[in-house]
Amino acid sequence: MTFNPLKEKGIPLEKQVRTWCDIAKRKFNKNDVDCYSRTRQIMMNGIEVEAWNFKHAFSRFSDDDEVKEFLAVTKRIEDMQQTTVNWMSPEDQTILETTLGYEQVAVDLTAWMAQNEPDDYVRETFNFGLLEDFDHLYRYSQWAYLEHGINPNDIVQGMTDVILGRPTQNHHNCNIIRLRKSYDKNKATPQTKVNILTLVSAEQQTHNYYAEHGMEYGNEKIRTTYAEIKDVEEEHVTMYESLMDPNESLYEKLLLHEFTEVCNYYTCYKDEPDEMLKDVWEEFLAVELTHLQHAAEIFEKRENRSAEEVIGNEIVIPSHFESQRSYVRKILEKEVDKRLTGDKGFAKISELPADWASYKIQEMSGKNGAPTETAIRTIKLQKGRDIVLADDNLAKKQPELLERGLEKKSQAPNTVTVEEYIEMNDKTFEF
Ligand SMILES: [Fe+2]
Ligand SMILES: [Fe+2]
Ligand SMILES: [Fe+2]
Ligand SMILES: [Fe+2]
Repeated sequence: MTFNPLKEKGIPLEKQVRTWCDIAKRKFNKNDVDCYSRTRQIMMNGIEVEAWNFKHAFSRFSDDDEVKEFLAVTKRIEDMQQTTVNWMSPEDQTILETTLGYEQVAVDLTAWMAQNEPDDYVRETFNFGLLEDFDHLYRYSQWAYLEHGINPNDIVQGMTDVILGRPTQNHHNCNIIRLRKSYDKNKATPQTKVNILTLVSAEQQTHNYYAEHGMEYGNEKIRTTYAEIKDVEEEHVTMYESLMDPNESLYEKLLLHEFTEVCNYYTCYKDEPDEMLKDVWEEFLAVELTHLQHAAEIFEKRENRSAEEVIGNEIVIPSHFESQRSYVRKILEKEVDKRLTGDKGFAKISELPADWASYKIQEMSGKNGAPTETAIRTIKLQKGRDIVLADDNLAKKQPELLERGLEKKSQAPNTVTVEEYIEMNDKTFEF
């Protein structure tokens, strides 16, 4: 049976306002929540933040009274939804624990999308970003243990490997080469459009979370690690948003935002084992169906074409969480030495020109050392080795992956060397 979001019945707009008690009352238990309930919660918070931001931006550019009124009513609803979703994080979940959840979202969501993305170029871009968030998870995991004694597996629950990826110090690019080719709005499928908007929302919220919380640690090494990785998340937002067609009108973008909300709530609802969260996903799906249908009406009136031309007549599935360990491993082994080029393409490290634009950025930003290398240095000093959660075969490959994945030019002065990784291989980590 197909689910046509333009036809399904939602909650009428005039019934969408809720009490503050209802908005704020839900919290999960960090010790028994399923890791993928937490990733859904983190992702949907990002989707709501983007919906709210976009509507404010649209209002500032519009003199269309009917649209401004629709935006005025619904941005408050988006905001209420955002609070409900974000505030399900319990107060005893530390910033680093939440951070591991954010990077688990980035890894497992991007991997799933890459496998369900019809556009080859968009897929290649997803695979590229995937290996960067994968490395962030590894770096933050060391601090989570050192600062709070957290076993990162309590958060990722064996679903996501924790091991070196493309080293973070090499994620710092000239932002101009992060700009990618955009899809053509008349040719791209609804799946591609919703995938990209979902990922942009998740990456943007990751950036915002690090921006708002990294300074809450007094430990200078952790503060600077947040500063470094936050800077990469800024690059990720720039990269993924550049895939979108800038020729979509604001009406078309409004339609796509509501459609993206509907599709994600639909998937969350279908996948969710936790009753408290499932009820929220179900209610918010009904909220969004109404937003979508109003947005479709606005779009059709302004553009004289049917909303179906843009979003089709059935749901698409942008997000689904399950373990992606084998897929990520495949991409890791294949693409750890991949880099972005100035002509919007990709190349291996060995093919980069000597004047590659990102070398300069890496030299400037990393001249005092990379905090993400300090993370490994510090745990090596205290425990003799780094925390790695992966099967032995893969874990043993760290020196080889580093050898291939690290640029020889412009290395941070505190880089943990291949020899040091070989040395760490002989030791077992004792929690
Ligand atoms: Fe919403
Ligand atoms: Fe990340
Ligand atoms: Fe990211
Ligand atoms: Fe909405």
